[in-house]
This record gives sequence, C-alpha cells and structure tokens, in this order.
Amino acid sequence: MPERLLLIPAAGVGERMKIGYPKQYFPLIDNVTMLEVTVNRLAAMNLFDRIAVVVSDKDSYIETCRFEGNVTVYRCGGETRAQSVLNGLIAAAPGDNDWVFVHDAARPCVEKDSVLRLIDTVENEAVDGAILAMPVSDTIKWVNDKGIIEKTIDRSRCYRAQTPQVFQAEALISALKEAKGSVTDEASAMEMKGATVKVVEGSAFNIKVTYPDDIQIVRNYLQSIQKGQEK
Ligand code: CTP
Ligand code: MG
Repeated sequence: MPERLLLIPAAGVGERMKIGYPKQYFPLIDNVTMLEVTVNRLAAMNLFDRIAVVVSDKDSYIETCRFEGNVTVYRCGGETRAQSVLNGLIAAAPGDNDWVFVHDAARPCVEKDSVLRLIDTVENEAVDGAILAMPVSDTIKWVNDKGIIEKTIDRSRCYRAQTPQVFQAEALISALKEAKGSVTDEASAMEMKGATVKVVEGSAFNIKVTYPDDIQIVRNYLQSIQKGQEK
C-alpha cells in the first residue's frame, strides 16, 4: 500500500507579514504558533502515515515547537517554496508511488472534510494528482502591461489554488527538478509535464496567512471551532 506523506514547507521569511520574524511562528491562539496549529490539526485528522516539516537551516524557533503525531523536522529549506519542497522530499525519501500532500504552514484552518475529498479523488479517479481550490466569485479581467483590459475570462473556469496539493512522490520530484524553483505551487510544475491534475473544492476558511489583517480571520475561525468543541 502506498503511504501518505504530509510535507509542510515552513522555511519562508514572511516578508509581507512585517512582524520581524517568520510568520509561521506567530502565536495564533493560546500562545500556540501558526506552525504548531497547522501541523497538529493535520496530525489529529489521522490521515497521514508521517509528517515532514521543512525549515531553514538558520531557523532558531523550531526547537520550542511541540508537535503531535509522527513528525520529523528537516532543516533543508531553500531559496523558494518549490526548492524547500524539493529539498524536503529528497530528505524524507518517500517511496516512488507514495502520495505526497504538500501543505503551506501558513494555512492553519484546513478542514478534514476537504482533505478527505482530496484523498477520495486521487485514490479513486484517473488523475495524476489533485489540489484544493476555490471557484472565483469576481469577474476576472485579463490586462496588458499598462493595466488596460484586453478581455474578460470565463470565470466558471477559474479557481484559486489552495493546499494541500497531492501527487505521487517520484512524479513530483522529477517535475520540481525540471521546473527549477520557478513555480509557486506543485501543480504548476506538474502541469508543465502535462499531468492530469484535478481541482477539488476546498473551504473559504483555508486562507494563506499573508498580510497582518489575515490574522483576525484565522483567529475568529479557530476560536469558533474551539467553542464548538467545548459545547
Ligand atoms: N516557504 C518555504 N520556503 C521558502 C519560501 C516559502 O518553505 N523559501 C513556505 C512558507 O513558509 C509558507 C509557504 O511556503 O508556509 C507559502 O509561502 P508564503 O505564504 O509566500 O510565505 P513566505 O514566503 O514566508 O511569505 P512572503 O512571501 O510574504 O515572504
Ligand atoms: Mg513567499
């Protein structure tokens, strides 16, 4: 049986967050960091055989994190997200046909139902991989380099990519090697190879914490589910 490896790239510097340290170490709720919330929520789903967290070799915060589940930390982050994922995959050394679920440390609100839909898709449909994504509700404009609209894109065909993104290990490693760090998600690297990648509906709460204003949205969500569990 192929295993399920969850790989969490957490080697970014959080430039846009402007807090002076990497955003994955921001205390989100009850003094627990964003990275701990993300890893421990996913571990608690009991859907993964093992979890690999990729941090920078200069990281001075990871030692204080407390993780639940079968978690290994690899200090092999790269210059770009894609390079961090590739380095982490090489270090974690999954079997060729194992499923790799890549999930941003900066998405602490991912829901179990969404992950179950992803697993169902890759394990039962004729696809090379799948990603969580959300349909767009705004009308989408394609513009030239001066910001002048050239056309309106059919929004029923447009999705915002989230994570997890799931692929078989060997295919993903070779796609990332060929993409050479230029891609912002794993699906882009697989698309370049002509792979069949399906979008699976995620959740509006599965936002990537990028700017300071995103923190309140995530805190509200986490507090609301905490209250729900206490009832
Ligand atoms: N990431 C990584 N290695 C990098 C860059 C990013 O592992 N060289 C990780 C981040 O830690 C994050 C995920 O990839 O979990 C998504 O990246 P992003 O939201 O862009 O985070 P940062 O790059 O840290 O933020 P910014 O772009 O604002 O600097
Ligand atoms: Mg970034």
